[in-house]
Amino acid sequence: MFGTVCKGLMCTVLFCPEAPVLVTQRSMVSVYEGSDVQLTCILKANYPATEITWYNNLKQHVIETPSKYVLQHAAAWSNLTVRETDGLRDSGQYWCSATNAVGGTEIPIHLLVKRYPMPPNVTINKIVYSTHQQTEVDIDWLIKTEGDITGFIIERRRVPATEGKRDVDPPWLKVAVNLDPSIRTYKMGGFDPTGLYAVRIMAVNHRTVGHPSEEKRPAMPSFNAYPAVIGAAIGGMIIAAIITVLLFMYIVRNRNNNPRLHDMLFGIRNSQSRENINYPEDESVGGAERDVSREEHGSPGPAMTSPRATVSPPDLPPRDDNEPVSVTITVMATS
Ligand SMILES: *[C@@H]1O[C@H](CO)[C@@H](O)[C@H](O)[C@H]1NC(C)=O
Ligand SMILES: *[C@@H]1O[C@H](CO)[C@@H](O)[C@H](O)[C@H]1NC(C)=O
Repeated sequence: MFGTVCKGLMCTVLFCPEAPVLVTQRSMVSVYEGSDVQLTCILKANYPATEITWYNNLKQHVIETPSKYVLQHAAAWSNLTVRETDGLRDSGQYWCSATNAVGGTEIPIHLLVKRYPMPPNVTINKIVYSTHQQTEVDIDWLIKTEGDITGFIIERRRVPATEGKRDVDPPWLKVAVNLDPSIRTYKMGGFDPTGLYAVRIMAVNHRTVGHPSEEKRPAMPSFNAYPAVIGAAIGGMIIAAIITVLLFMYIVRNRNNNPRLHDMLFGIRNSQSRENINYPEDESVGGAERDVSREEHGSPGPAMTSPRATVSPPDLPPRDDNEPVSVTITVMATS
């Protein structure tokens, strides 16, 4: 653009700068969230005193948030780096703008920040306090569907003791983040034993956080002391039995020295056991007598003798094979 200024006969031709012209290499840029992305704006003709400015997707001047946006300028081009793109906040139309004395121009650059697919849902399989101290919680979880996972997040919150009248649920606090995607179990510490807690877990695919699992409260550990208690009880019983046996043996051996104590303890018992011992002897004698008489008459049928033969122990005299049932029962009871 040229202009003429005349003073009398003298005319001076003046050079007047044009308004700037901007171009871009890519007016549509897409990126997966989490990474940095660079938007480029090029000034078509290099006019002096041209300023390039950038506006973000909310039409805010980018220099207002230097942590998010980095600017690089050279003579003809300007780069805007959007750092750690977020799929929810950073997509949209960005603007590159240039102005000089004559005028201004701006061009849009569309940024699409793609989100990673939703990771699968997670289910808490088991959640228990590690100990009765209730300061640590063991959790393990399941994933029922396929899908990309880059990690897990575990959150907890305190549950008010009085259910019902709660205006606002307490906030969820992160207990663990960036848990390895291959693990399915975790031990959390830092629980207040007097508090009630709810815990939930979600899978993460890069920056996409999955649906939280159903929240669950840690259960008390199963009473692991049971085997110990039972073991102690059995051990105690065995020791008591051994002591009793030793005591009885001592008294039996020393019955001549201390006959009164022996009689006191064994008086009734002894007579009973004597009866028990004598009974089979009497029976077998009687049985033998009956046996003889039976053999003489040839009366016993095969149905009566066969079951007894299987039950009788081998160390009994052979004549016991045909003994009456009472002998067999006595042997079994004493063995
Ligand atoms: C600016 O962006 C362009 C295109 O993406 C690239 O070629 C150039 O190297 C960038 N400049 C700097 C300083 O990063
Ligand atoms: C995952 O959980 C969400 C919310 O609980 C539910 O809407 C969705 O259907 C679940 N997806 C699958 C695949 O079960």
